[in-house]
Amino acid sequence: MEFKMRFLTCFTTFALVGLLIADPVPHKEHEPFLVTLDFYKDEMVIYRGKHDIVKILVPINSLNFDESDSNESESIEDDSDIFLFFVEAEEQPDGTRQDKGLYVFKEGKATKILANGRDAAASGDDSKIVFFGAADGIYVYNKTTNSADKYGPITDSIIAIATEQPGDVLYILTENREVFKVSGNGGKKEKLDDVVNAKEIVLDKTDHLYFVSVDNKPYVRRTYGINPIIGLPEHLSNVKLIKPPFFLNDEVAFLANNRVYFISNYGSSTMSEIEFKPEAKPTAYAPEALIQYYGFDNKIYEFRISSLREDATPEELLSNYLNSKAFDNRTYCFDNQKSGVAN
Ligand SMILES: *[C@@H]1O[C@H](CO)[C@@H](O)[C@H](O)[C@H]1NC(C)=O
Ligand SMILES: *[C@@H]1O[C@H](CO)[C@@H](O)[C@H](O)[C@H]1NC(C)=O
Ligand SMILES: *[C@@H]1O[C@H](CO)[C@@H](O)[C@H](O)[C@H]1NC(C)=O
Repeated sequence: MEFKMRFLTCFTTFALVGLLIADPVPHKEHEPFLVTLDFYKDEMVIYRGKHDIVKILVPINSLNFDESDSNESESIEDDSDIFLFFVEAEEQPDGTRQDKGLYVFKEGKATKILANGRDAAASGDDSKIVFFGAADGIYVYNKTTNSADKYGPITDSIIAIATEQPGDVLYILTENREVFKVSGNGGKKEKLDDVVNAKEIVLDKTDHLYFVSVDNKPYVRRTYGINPIIGLPEHLSNVKLIKPPFFLNDEVAFLANNRVYFISNYGSSTMSEIEFKPEAKPTAYAPEALIQYYGFDNKIYEFRISSLREDATPEELLSNYLNSKAFDNRTYCFDNQKSGVAN
């Protein structure tokens, strides 16, 4: 219990950890930690595209963390077998997006596997499931053929997709702002009548659905109904729901007015110290693992917390919460012991 608290202390203070720890600078407590253009260093670029990077997914399942593959003697530099999925799009003057393709990124190489793909979601267990939401329905990643196979009969125009931890229940947000729960291998589709006017959706690790409605307000769906999130500023703009970093269980990250908040499935909110300069705001966020990825200026940047502890094994560094004992005391608190950021 004690080291759990310590873990939370270490990480919640510096959430979106990678972005901050990647370039530690002394900063006073209770003052906003401002993310500026200086954070985007050329040597961190792993991919250069021609369009906005609008989504990035790091599957936290056996596609990336296969315990049977684990090899303690592997170098931490060797992250070449990390699978990333990302989506490119071009923002139109009217605010809509023109699809530019969904890609798989592996061993330094990006392959477009779905021209009309718009979002990706992965299971959070020891399966290897990755789903894609596309303009014409749901697809599933086929590792053997490195391609996207159609999943189920659904043909809705999907703008966002999320999946429960075991990967057997999906939520899709369609272009006309309806949310459906999809189960039965893609064959069963139920409209969630209580979720109205949603423009973004995300699930936390306890499979609670959060959404932001067109009025920019976030809500969480509980078994007894829809809860508004309380404690946020009255006027919210430039809002975004962000998939939870590995250390959050019953919360997700929420960006509003350039500030990062954590919102919980109990309906509460906490303001983090992290603030983005407007011109330094990522176009896509993947803070799921200890190696984090952000889209900015048509590029994907990799932020490695791993650089702080040379002797760590890949399992320790890659947030293998399938096997949480991988985080021992050293790892929990390497940030305040090694980087000098926390205190
Ligand atoms: C682990 O990796 C090292 C170096 O690549 C290799 O020599 C060794 O055989 C591997 N061990 C296992 C159990 O795969
Ligand atoms: C992947 O594609 C191959 C070739 O079409 C197929 O035989 C295989 O069943 C697919 N794998 C999955 C997991 O669907
Ligand atoms: C963490 O540290 C505490 C106290 O220093 C110790 O009792 C505990 O065994 C350690 N846990 C691990 C997983 O190393």
